[in-house]
Amino acid sequence: MLHTTSIESPLLNALAGRANTPPPLWLMRQAGRYLPEYREVRSKVASFLDLCRTPELAAEVTLQPLRRFAFDAAIVFSDILMIPYALGRKVEFIEGEGPRLDPVKDAKDLERLKLAGAADRLAPVYETIEHVTAELPEVVPLIGFCGAPWTVATYMVEGGGSKDQAAARAWAYREPDTFQHLIDLLVETSAQYLIAQVKAGARVLQIFDSWAGSLPEDEFARWCIVPTRDIVKRVKAAVPEVPVIGFPRGSGPLAERYVKEAGVDAVGCDTALPVDWIRDRLQKIVPVQGNLDPLLLVAGGPALETRVKTILATLGKGAFIFNLGHGILPETPIENVEYLVRLVKTGQA
Ligand code: CP3
Repeated sequence: MLHTTSIESPLLNALAGRANTPPPLWLMRQAGRYLPEYREVRSKVASFLDLCRTPELAAEVTLQPLRRFAFDAAIVFSDILMIPYALGRKVEFIEGEGPRLDPVKDAKDLERLKLAGAADRLAPVYETIEHVTAELPEVVPLIGFCGAPWTVATYMVEGGGSKDQAAARAWAYREPDTFQHLIDLLVETSAQYLIAQVKAGARVLQIFDSWAGSLPEDEFARWCIVPTRDIVKRVKAAVPEVPVIGFPRGSGPLAERYVKEAGVDAVGCDTALPVDWIRDRLQKIVPVQGNLDPLLLVAGGPALETRVKTILATLGKGAFIFNLGHGILPETPIENVEYLVRLVKTGQA
């Protein structure tokens, strides 16, 4: 839908359906290990979770990338696994390995998930948001986020990351009714979490469905689209003015169905989606975000320049937010991020 009033924030402008020259730019995982100032703050706390639970520090690392780069949005520093943590599960981040959780194996484990107290355990995130929004200029909105129920469930059931999300897929195939309980609980908790992030100051929301690509179409509809739609419905009922970006990573052509059915205001596109297809099939329906290969940002040079120009030429004429197709990699040279920002903002290498 096109609006006639102009909004100063390029991100909000794009999310309202308007083309911007240059397009707004932010990077998924823009706060993180590729920044020396992040590693410095990180070294002061024992665990990654402690960083997420300490509002002053989480606010500081949220703002760090904005001090270096002319990004058009901040994203609150937290993690999608704050929800399992809030539900009373043990969540750890092991250096060099990734997240580890005590796995939810059956209906009995589901009964042990603690809804009571979840809001208290998430309170530090809301406090982080209050700190950050007090510092941000009006034109730079803060993005709040959560993981989509399917993706969060894959970590909860597996007890960590996995190549193929086999444990969650097997449960969903064998016992869809009990798996539905887990998804329903995540829908409810995540919707409340997003609404509370908006009340604290977030002006845009993103739902990360990082493992959407591991499901065939019927299961994709049931476990990715429907739960996302249910979250969006609840969010819209409470805070109708806040745009929601959905990111169904790896969904391929099913991204079109996702856009038509999930109720999101914009869609994040991963690196594998062809830009012509994004323009013809997705951008006709909603604003699109993406989709530079994070590894190109590591590699730099002419390959990066060529691809950025292709993306801009193909998607820049419509409602578009420049981003990566997945999170920034820790080995990304800072000069390459500076170069990217220059290229997107001025069109000049
Ligand atoms: O800057 C930002 O984008 C905000 C912060 C943010 C983090 N995680 C911080 C983080 C966001 C938006 C996330 C989302 C997230 N977390 C996703 C969805 C996006 C995606 O990448 O697919 C997922 C799947 C997770 C779960 C998660 N958290 C994993 C698999 C890992 C380990 C892998 C890794 O990169 O280390 C994390 C840890 C994590 N989350 C780190 C950061 C900065 C690194 C830990 C550290 O710094 O010690």
